[in-house]
Amino acid sequence: MSLRDKHIVIGISGSIAAYKIATLVRLLRKADASVQVIMTQEATQFITPLTLSTLSNNPVFVDYYDQKTGEWNNHVHVAESADLILIAPATANTIAKCAQGICDNLLQAVYLSAKSRVLIAPAMDLDMWIHPSVNNNIELLKSYGNVIIPPGKGELASGLVGEGRLAEPEEIFAYILDFFEKGMPLKGKKALVSAGPTYEAIDPVRFIGNHSSGKMGYAIANRLHELGAEVTLVSGPTVLSPAVGINRIAVQSAAEMLDACSKFFDQADITVMSAAVADYTPTEVADQKIKKKAEDFTISLKKTTDILATLGTRKHENQTLVGFALETNNELENAIGKLRRKNLDFIVLNSMQDKGAGFAHDTNKITVIDKNAEILTFDLKSKTEVAKDICRLIIKHQESLGL
Ligand code: CTP
Repeated sequence: MSLRDKHIVIGISGSIAAYKIATLVRLLRKADASVQVIMTQEATQFITPLTLSTLSNNPVFVDYYDQKTGEWNNHVHVAESADLILIAPATANTIAKCAQGICDNLLQAVYLSAKSRVLIAPAMDLDMWIHPSVNNNIELLKSYGNVIIPPGKGELASGLVGEGRLAEPEEIFAYILDFFEKGMPLKGKKALVSAGPTYEAIDPVRFIGNHSSGKMGYAIANRLHELGAEVTLVSGPTVLSPAVGINRIAVQSAAEMLDACSKFFDQADITVMSAAVADYTPTEVADQKIKKKAEDFTISLKKTTDILATLGTRKHENQTLVGFALETNNELENAIGKLRRKNLDFIVLNSMQDKGAGFAHDTNKITVIDKNAEILTFDLKSKTEVAKDICRLIIKHQESLGL
């Protein structure tokens, strides 16, 4: 498995086992992960920051403040950028500090700021490992949701033989791979997403379109992809590029979008229609550019096919079907009407009355209504965060189907 695009923060505390992390960093880099090493002062006595910065291809952070460059090593940024944080080796002292929320070095500050899962690989002498205080601290860490990579049995640095030595680099690496596999709850699922506007041709140079940027749909497609789904993105004209690995099908008109979506819908476990599809299209498209003549000019329009409603009639029970509604008035009532009419599992409502929501913004404020008319409201967030909220609901729905 490749760890491309995965950013792993490794915190090393002061144990002789720190040398094993050099091998682990190599394994991670070989799997294409990016690695940021943080060390406690004590850890630098066991392995040099130079070794680890060379292997990780990143500067190693020890203090809050870099004496040479004068740069501030922002612990919040380090923690936020991590897809996974590993503390290895974790000494009895570091484990106790994590358990109690003590923050007396950069590693502890990063731990307390963690947004991602934290793996902890203890290393200590056998008597320390079985001491009740260490046991209690380990239980506390587990209760916080941290994952403990158990120490192995064998010869210890003290010469004693028993449990307490740091798990081997290959073993820790296997835990990391496992985490990313499990962190992909949609692995094996197929998803179909529509995004962007449609352009309805009037003549060879003109069209009827709308201001949809496609940002929300692309954020959803990218998130579904991150969660392991095989994603087909049917996109109207936008300037955006999806994540590598997403199958994008570029379309222009509502009719082309209908064709593409119809083709992929039956195999899709999850379908999210976020495109702003034109409701009307010119009855006839002129072959030649229309010349200006009369003072008044009328274009005759006909209804397009409602793609979402069409898919709704074909939906089978294992599928999750999500639609969007952009409303200016009677929002809830209109959205619930669409949810029922189009046979959706849930509908994402954007109200034009909310500041920062809707077209072209990088943020969105949504309300989600499910089949039982249960209403969930969310704060104004970046579209990436909104995509995470929507995908959480999709995962829950798939799980509720027993899939
Ligand atoms: N939609 C679609 N095909 C269309 C029109 C809309 O798939 N021809 C989908 C959109 O992608 C969105 C949902 O239907 O997920 C709601 O679209 P919206 O335009 O708000 O609703 P309409 O059903 O067109 O109703 P109205 O124009 O009355 O608001």
